[in-house]
Amino acid sequence: MKVGVFDSGLGGLTIVDAISKSFQGAQVFYIADTLFAPYGEKSREQILKHSLDVANYLIKTHEIDALVVACNTATSAAIKTLRASFPRLIVIGTEPGIKPAMQITSSKNIGVLATPATLSGEKYQLLLNDLSKEHDVKVHESACAGLVNQIENGRIEDKQTFKMLQKWLEPMKLNSVDTIVLGCTHYPLISKIIKDIMGAETMLIETGSAIAKRLKILSSQNGHTKQGSLEITVFYTGEIKKDMINMILNRWTDGGKIEVRDTYE
Ligand code: DGL
Repeated sequence: MKVGVFDSGLGGLTIVDAISKSFQGAQVFYIADTLFAPYGEKSREQILKHSLDVANYLIKTHEIDALVVACNTATSAAIKTLRASFPRLIVIGTEPGIKPAMQITSSKNIGVLATPATLSGEKYQLLLNDLSKEHDVKVHESACAGLVNQIENGRIEDKQTFKMLQKWLEPMKLNSVDTIVLGCTHYPLISKIIKDIMGAETMLIETGSAIAKRLKILSSQNGHTKQGSLEITVFYTGEIKKDMINMILNRWTDGGKIEVRDTYE
């Protein structure tokens, strides 16, 4: 079984990390589309084009059986088109975990941290509208422009990153937020800072293990039963910080820089 996974950068490796804990016997081809990162500050049309380019590359070059969109922003802009364009492919998206957050909050106040494109996207708005009918929970959102860049550049233990988060999180703290949705796959990498600001008891919701579970179910329905190791190869379109990969995944293979362009017209 061959699984393609992509994100604008290295954040989606947090999803690969979760997959590697419960999924076996497959080859994983990861694309960090860093040439066009961050996706979350681009138009829907641009994000859709980059997502289709990467998906086409993974299908043509690596003949993948499943595609994991390890990016909330790309899922919001492109998941419908990806499913319609590749009907025989298993396609799994990533969505902010608002539902579990609404279910577990005690203070009835949750926070959502995500990219500007995810928060303004129709998909998120529809999800929020639906869930708001069932749960009496106040949702406090922050569109974290610039945060993906900080993380991609390895500025995790950094004063500026701390200050940016403080600006977004302090209002949540004042409003008794006890649960925060990490609505971008880069954000689990800054969990520690979020807890430092909000308090250690704050619950953080990420979606990696849910995606891993979904991949496991759908691939076994398609006949994948193979056990054994997972081979992970990381490709990138622009620059990447390789030590970040080592930090997120303890084992990896460098597939090298690739050209993912104009595969989709
Ligand atoms: N990891 C992506 C997400 O989940 C970040 C998108 C970006 O590049 O802004 O939304």
